[in-house]
Amino acid sequence: MLICHCNLITQKEIEETIVELLDQDPWTLIVPAKVYHRLQKRGRCCGCFPNVVETIIRVTEAYYARSEASGDDIVSHLDRVRELRVQFGSRTHERRKAGNRAA
Ligand code: FES
Repeated sequence: MLICHCNLITQKEIEETIVELLDQDPWTLIVPAKVYHRLQKRGRCCGCFPNVVETIIRVTEAYYARSEASGDDIVSHLDRVRELRVQFGSRTHERRKAGNRAA
């Protein structure tokens, strides 16, 4: 499934990149710009960022569920990751205005 229409980035590419970043440093705070930088892309309209944030949260939660890290550290880190929703607005709506929708 295509997540970023500006850069033609798929859900699978984003998920794989998040896992690569977590493998390098499991405690790094992954933000959409870090994922796009790794893919050698840039956010253009950034309308995909709320979906990327939700993917980061989902993949990070699954990553820690498989890891051997202790519970308190994971809870604290996942709280920081979930706060990205506030920063990137993924709880409310994509940042695109209604007039900019293609479909
Ligand atoms: S849809 Fe991803 S930058 Fe525009």
